[in-house]
Formats: sequence, C-alpha cells, structure tokens
Amino acid sequence: MRKSTLSILLAASLTLGATTTSAAPLTPVANAGNLQSDQAFDNKIVKRIKVENIYNHIAELSKQPRVAGTQGEYEAVEYIKRQFESYGYETELQPFDIYSYTAPSLNELKVDGNNLTSSSFTYGVNGEVTSELVYVGLGAPSDFEGKDISGKIALIQRGSYSFAEKIINAKKAGASAVIIYNNTGGVINGTLGKSDDYIPAVAITQEQGLALKERLGQGETITATLKVEGAKTNKATSHNVVATKKATQKSTGQLVLVGAHHDSVAGAPGANDDASGTATVLELARIFANAPTDTDLRFVTFGAEENGLLGSYEFVERMTQEDYDRTVGMFQMDMVGSKDAGELIMYSNDGEKNIVTDLAAAAGARLAESGEALPYGLGGRSDHVPFQEIGLPAALFIHAPVEPWYHTPEDTLDKISKEKLEEVSTIVGAAVYQVARPDTPALENAKVAPKEVDYVFEERELE
Ligand code: BES
Ligand code: ZN
Repeated sequence: MRKSTLSILLAASLTLGATTTSAAPLTPVANAGNLQSDQAFDNKIVKRIKVENIYNHIAELSKQPRVAGTQGEYEAVEYIKRQFESYGYETELQPFDIYSYTAPSLNELKVDGNNLTSSSFTYGVNGEVTSELVYVGLGAPSDFEGKDISGKIALIQRGSYSFAEKIINAKKAGASAVIIYNNTGGVINGTLGKSDDYIPAVAITQEQGLALKERLGQGETITATLKVEGAKTNKATSHNVVATKKATQKSTGQLVLVGAHHDSVAGAPGANDDASGTATVLELARIFANAPTDTDLRFVTFGAEENGLLGSYEFVERMTQEDYDRTVGMFQMDMVGSKDAGELIMYSNDGEKNIVTDLAAAAGARLAESGEALPYGLGGRSDHVPFQEIGLPAALFIHAPVEPWYHTPEDTLDKISKEKLEEVSTIVGAAVYQVARPDTPALENAKVAPKEVDYVFEERELE
C-alpha cells in the first residue's frame, strides 16, 4: 500500500536531510512512491553489484591502450561483446569510419623565387602549383565573380567562412591552389575536416598576406609556387557495442540508455578514462539481464570518443525516430573510478537538471549514508553531448576535479578505487531501476523531468 502524500513528503525531507532554497515544497521524484519500498527495490540491484567484477573488467581492458581504429580497440570491443553475450544479451557492433591525418613532410611557398614560411591544414591535400596570385577577399562564392581565377592561386583572408568552405569555393571557381592569410596575429593551425574535395592550400601570417594583397592592389603580377608533399589521410574503423534488453513484462515501450566510451588516448592504458565507465556498464548489464523490467534497456560502449565523440554521434545518427521518441534518458559514465579524483558529480551539457540528473540525485540521496543528493553542473566533453544536442535528457557521471593522471601513461589499474566504483554503480543502477522496474508507472512524458529532489548546482573545477 502507498503512503499518503504527506508521509512521502516527510520521508523525503528526512531522507534527503536538505533545506530547500526555493519556496516550493520539497518533493521526491515523481512516482517515487513509498521511499522505504524504493529502498527495498534499490537493494535488489545494489546488493547484486559485485565491485570485484568491475575491477576485473578494468584490469582486462587496461592491459593496453585502446586507441580508436587500432587492434587495441578491436580487442576491447570483442571482449565487451563477449561479456554482453555471456549475460544473454543480443549484441550488435556498429562499425564506422574514422580518419586520422599525417602532416605533410614538405610544405613550401615561394613568391618571386623567395621562400615564405607557411603552415599546412589538417586534412589538406598534396600538390605542386606554380601560378599567378589573385586576391579574392574572404573567399565567398560572390568574391570569385568576374575574376579570372582559372588555374590560378587564390589569396584569401581568414574569417566569416570555414577554411574548408573557402578552399571548396576556390576549387569550384576553377582555382588550382589557395593561400589563406590570418586576420589576427600568429600562425594559423587550421583543420579542414575530412573530405576529398580540396585543392592544395597553405596558410601564412596576416603580415605576409596583407603585403601580397597590397602589391596586387597596385596592379603587380605575382607568381607563386606552392608545394605540399607527404600529407596522408588514413582511414580506420571504430565500433560501438550495443546490448539490448527488452522489457520482461507489461512493457511501457520506453527505453533507457546506459553508456561509456571504451576507447583511450594513445599511450594511455585508460584504466579510469574510460575502462572504469565501460566496466561499470558491463556489471550493470549483468545484473539487469535477470531483473524484471517494464522498460527496454540499451547498454552501449562507444568508440572514438577521444576523436571528438564520434561513436556517440554515430549512435544518435543511427537512432530511429521511434527509438528517439521512446527514449527516457541516457546515463553516461566517464572516469568514475579514480582514487585521486574528487567527488561524484553529474554534468549536463546545458547546465540544466533533467530526468537523468533527477533520478540519480534521488537515488544518491536514498543510498548515501549522509542522505545527501548528488550535485550537478554544466559540462560537455563526453558522450552525453550528442544525445542532449538532439533533445534527449542525458548526463555525465564523473569525479571532479579529475586526477592528475588524466590522459597520461599513468592512468593505470593501481589508481582505481573500489569505493568510488561502488558508489557510482549503485547510484546509476538504482536510478535506472527506478524507471525500469515494473511497479513504477511509465514516466508520462519522457522529455519532461519529474518533480525534483533538492540538489544543487555546483561550479566545480575540473582540472
Ligand atoms: N573523459 C574525458 C572527459 C573529461 C575530462 C571531462 C576531464 C571532464 C574533465 C574525455 O574522454 C575527453 O578527454 N574528452 C575530450 C573531448 C572530446 C570532444 C575529444 C576532452 O575533454 O578533451
Ligand atoms: Zn573519457
């Protein structure tokens, strides 16, 4: 039987032990029901979590770096897939192309036979061109109109359009190469983004560019030679690993996502970043495999997070409209086990609370001895970002400030704390079960957070 609303409120404020700052009464998460029974349900999940399993997965995964697209990543992907399958999950690999770039061995610009120092663009192409310079302003399509640019070198000022757009516009207008000069002090270290559509391009300083522009403006003909050699774009394949559990009874049709990234940076064993999150996803998957649920669950480990969240962008790209509409929220765990990091916090990409932070704050309050809810803050930099960008509630679980070993070869197993792993796995596990267990009704509108527990915004230093 359910308690009266009043006793729920009382129990909530007692359990949370918090003082509200707003005038609104302190209320528990919608459908939290009887807190005591919530705690009994929490225990069903929490008591089954074996931190030793999480630790052992980290030990296995952190034996070598797991750079996206390398054998190290692939071995991790196979390990993760095998684990999911051993728990009985239908497991899918999502392969996707990733690109890396080898900078040119030679990047040369000669004007009237004199060498000018120049820099190259990441994903720029090789080539050698000797031709006349033509000044084309910012390099917008209209800047090329009425100019005889065919086969010539376009001199373009930085600004308003991306480097790639300027180069593609020049190519379309018939130019054979491009020089982009800075619109501020210093050297340009530009990137174009992977494409096959470029012509050779180099960058020079503002001073160099303005001097050339001035001479052209006075009607001089300037001939330049531009040479880019040895640049290489390398293609590789990264993978997401996706394990799906269908509701076991009375399905609400809703879907909850739990994620982490399995790749690491080069040279780093990535025990904490992010074997810790990956290992926690595995252990939660193991437990939920046999739990009664009325909600579909998807456990995902992303590839190529360190290359710019590429795996999670790929995942949202592949989501169907139907899956999007039924997704309640996404829990991302990244760097959740370091001895040397600060306390657990939840970051959302917009700095706002959402259903994921609400559920975990409430779970944290129920599980913590202090009864204190988790704080939240504003932060991107992990795989929750693409989900929030398409309008889904998501949050990153991380310890902040992060440890000094972040992205170093010292990010090793011996720095992992079982207590930290225990805290995050129980909180996320209990929060997910709050939605997924069959006795709680479906959250009516997955896009709108339920009533909030009292938890606070914190602006905490990350590094
Ligand atoms: N685990 C980090 C994210 C992180 C680090 C968040 C420190 C907060 C504090 C993640 O793997 C990472 O390194 N992300 C990149 C960004 C990404 C878009 C390439 C980063 O933060 O540089
Ligand atoms: Zn990370």
